[in-house]
Amino acid sequence: MRIDGKAWRTLWLDGGTLHLIDQTVLPHTFRVVQTTTVEQTAVAIETMIVRGAGAIGATAAAGVAQAAWTAPDKDFHQHVAVGAERIRRTRPTAQNLFVGIEFVLRAIESAPTPAAARDAAVAAAVAFADDDAACCAAIGQHGAPLIEDGMGVSTHCNAGWLAFVDWGSALSPIYAAHREGRRVHVWVDETRPRQQGAKLTAFELGHEGIDHSVIADGSIGWWMRQGRVQRTFVGADRIAANGDVANKVGTYMVALAAKANGVPFYVAAPTTTLDVHCPSGAQIPIEERGDDEVCFTWGWSDDGVYQRVRTTPLTSRARNVAFDVTPAELIAGIITERGIVPATPEGIASVARR
Ligand code: MRU
Repeated sequence: MRIDGKAWRTLWLDGGTLHLIDQTVLPHTFRVVQTTTVEQTAVAIETMIVRGAGAIGATAAAGVAQAAWTAPDKDFHQHVAVGAERIRRTRPTAQNLFVGIEFVLRAIESAPTPAAARDAAVAAAVAFADDDAACCAAIGQHGAPLIEDGMGVSTHCNAGWLAFVDWGSALSPIYAAHREGRRVHVWVDETRPRQQGAKLTAFELGHEGIDHSVIADGSIGWWMRQGRVQRTFVGADRIAANGDVANKVGTYMVALAAKANGVPFYVAAPTTTLDVHCPSGAQIPIEERGDDEVCFTWGWSDDGVYQRVRTTPLTSRARNVAFDVTPAELIAGIITERGIVPATPEGIASVARR
């Protein structure tokens, strides 16, 4: 995708060095950071320098490759296992993270020597990232026909190219429809508490020249009621075997509002987000993060200082669940790289990777 007309990917691996667009300072500062060790990469995931299911899946794969890249020949596999476990413990919800780790571990295990395993690990991590980008491009092609000229589309959080290696999941059909010449207005939920919608989705749409309005999370029902929203597209962090979807907290409320207003609610995700071993949304591990993300907000003052300000009383406590689960019955369809399927056990099984 493009920033100021220049093509970028969210992340890329160059030997043992991982390059990441730092998402914590967007949209006002653009910078790329590098990690060279599995520990640095784990911290980048934990601190959300990189976030979004596909992006952290590709980052996790790169982290395991770095563990192999830096492991000594002696006890090579033990070093890799410790590195993989470090990445596994970074964030619990996005399925892509675990799929990325296993993908690179399999490549390492089938290599005959540590030297061959290092090359195989890097090649596997690069292939995993390329696959994510290709899946997201295909999601765009499958989803774009759902968007007619002049439609209003709502989205929650950021499931655009910054949340993947390229293109994105929920935003990919919007990008495809826009590039095919159809007019679309995107209603962007700001997405408290980290404001991925206000900061990242708005940044992406602006650079692609797509008309959009950032709205307070609680106002989406109003805009739907006014007839301004004809479709909702959201991403997913994990999809259970029965079609229940874990996504950024607030998604469930959007799905309820969509149902009440007759707005088709679509989930877009590559099949690396499917967890066929998880029977339903009730078994998806949901991350709870520190309460400071709710008690404080970050932003830029008029004189260009990036600062944290408290919004709650000093004595108030907060809870900060990062994801929620949307039941399958609220979902009109799941847009994958293999086509659009119903959010049912049969639909999920028909596209799941073996
Ligand atoms: O906590 P985050 O920013 O890593 O959350 C993940 C997400 O970006 C959203 O849940 C998104 O809608 C789906 S992942 C592409």
